[in-house]
Amino acid sequence: MSFERTNISRMRGYTPGEQPDSPDIIKLNTNENPYPPPAAVIDTLGAIDGADLRRYPPPLADDFRTVAGLMHGVAPECILPVNGGDELLRLLLTTYVEPDEVLAIMQPSYSLYPVLAQIAGCRLLEIPLTEAWTMPAGLAESLRRHRVKMLILVNPHAPTGSLTPAAYLHELAREFDGIVVLDEAYADFIDPELGHDSMPLARELENVLILRTLSKGYSLAGLRFGYGIGPGDLIHPMAVKTRDSYNTDYISQKLAKAALEAREAAARSWQRVRRSREWLRAELVGLGIETLPSQSNFLLAAIPEAVGAAKLYTALKDHGILVRHFAQPRLNDRLRITVGSETDNEILIQKLRDILQ
Ligand SMILES: Cc1ncc(COP(=O)(O)O)c(C=O)c1O
Repeated sequence: MSFERTNISRMRGYTPGEQPDSPDIIKLNTNENPYPPPAAVIDTLGAIDGADLRRYPPPLADDFRTVAGLMHGVAPECILPVNGGDELLRLLLTTYVEPDEVLAIMQPSYSLYPVLAQIAGCRLLEIPLTEAWTMPAGLAESLRRHRVKMLILVNPHAPTGSLTPAAYLHELAREFDGIVVLDEAYADFIDPELGHDSMPLARELENVLILRTLSKGYSLAGLRFGYGIGPGDLIHPMAVKTRDSYNTDYISQKLAKAALEAREAAARSWQRVRRSREWLRAELVGLGIETLPSQSNFLLAAIPEAVGAAKLYTALKDHGILVRHFAQPRLNDRLRITVGSETDNEILIQKLRDILQ
């Protein structure tokens, strides 16, 4: 006999990427930043007085909110600090989507979204991307027709790395009367020359909320810290009603603030990742592996049928390299490869060359 709620007993749960114990494994499977966090973050960690842990932390991470607000040009009340971006996604569903209402996502996208919909017990509308992995025509109309309450879009898109222009998103959000969540987990890796800036949407529109995380850009996946940026009316109910009383801990608050203040140091790692991303893509293409351009810190590589993506995944694993294979429609024949350090990328290409020969 099961005591689980029906929707929970029916669901399978999220499958996280493998986290191997051995430091010898080249880990290109969970889109972590290959470079260390800014030195100022490590210094802040070293300076923390253990005695300060006796007390509860500031419930809403006020100092972090102030710094993040200044950085994004919004009031502190428009920032919601969370225990990793995943917590924000869960809070959004808890706060805004009733069990009989519809959450829309693009297919494919971040595989946690359907899991969160199952936990919330809401309805899920999965909208296929076009053959070219772009947004389908008439999206706003389709959202209206299906009475969608919330749309979650990951931009740059995962797992392709493609970027949807801010102007398109602005138009979409204006034509749609539900909430548009822009999951910008990978925004730090966008080429600055593109001038992409979605922040005006969160500042000007009442239905747009942006997710940011320190996991990728700031090399702090182990810290578990992210934040939402959006109109005060969207942030407020989560801040005062649905959030756990102390959802971010004292240490993470201190380190997250130090990280944003050390943005310039983090930005040097973004530039290195971008350079490596272009190198890696060119090498993959040179090996006959069609790979989409990416504005993120990963590449989606189409593996020739004769080789087979699942087989190549296993062969790489046997050679001590972890990448990600998703056994699902449209992704079955592909591997998602995180851009690693220069050395790791070179080893990957060398091993691929060996395996493919
Ligand atoms: C698309 C996307 N959104 C959100 C997240 C959440 O990141 P975190 O919970 O580490 O902040 C991830 C993590 O991999 C992601 O890939």
